[in-house]
Amino acid sequence: MTQDQLKQQVAEAALEHIPEGAVLGIGSGSTIEKLIALLKQRKPEACVASSVKTAELLKAQGIEVVDLNDCGQLELYIDGADEVNRHLYMIKGGGAALTREKIIAAASKEFLCLADQSKWVETLGKFPLPIEVIPMARSYVARQLVAMGGDPEYRSGVTTDNGNQIIDIHNLDLTDTQQVERDINQIAGVVTSGLFAQRAADKLILATPEGIQIKTAMYE
Ligand code: A5P
Repeated sequence: MTQDQLKQQVAEAALEHIPEGAVLGIGSGSTIEKLIALLKQRKPEACVASSVKTAELLKAQGIEVVDLNDCGQLELYIDGADEVNRHLYMIKGGGAALTREKIIAAASKEFLCLADQSKWVETLGKFPLPIEVIPMARSYVARQLVAMGGDPEYRSGVTTDNGNQIIDIHNLDLTDTQQVERDINQIAGVVTSGLFAQRAADKLILATPEGIQIKTAMYE
């Protein structure tokens, strides 16, 4: 089974976890795009979009897109991930939408993550950690990340929906995940890191060649 087929399966499996007639937060990426194509079945009242592209796709389906400022707490945020582990900590931001994703996740009661098996990892960090930075701070932030043990790489040619830049951090030790997230947040010029540990997912729907698995966070 291809990764694309697994993404389709996880999108289909997600439908029964989405309440009917709700205001939903909707993430970004190719997995979520497959969900958006099916979302009308759940008759959402409206959606808050985590990227310009997601907003356009939702509107193309005839789904109303609303501003987060016009909503209270959202019932549910649904998004993909680049990596997810058994704590349902994630690396996100491969599509550069991490800041709006983190805001909507924070503003939602429940975070439902959709992933295919390739995203399921024992240890986070093989996928380089995206960090959105204010453009003038890019080199400064990169030097701070080198001091923390990482190897930063500028994602050349990419401007986020917020007008900022992305650096991808390789080889950073993410073992103490929540602390690393806090430490990166302290660096002046960082807008958002793609580590989602302080606000992890609540539930994961994982598509594997053996079938769909539903996971909640495991703590040792
Ligand atoms: C977008 O910025 C990311 O956080 C996505 O959630 C992530 O890249 C997953 O994308 P795919 O569904 O395309 O794998």
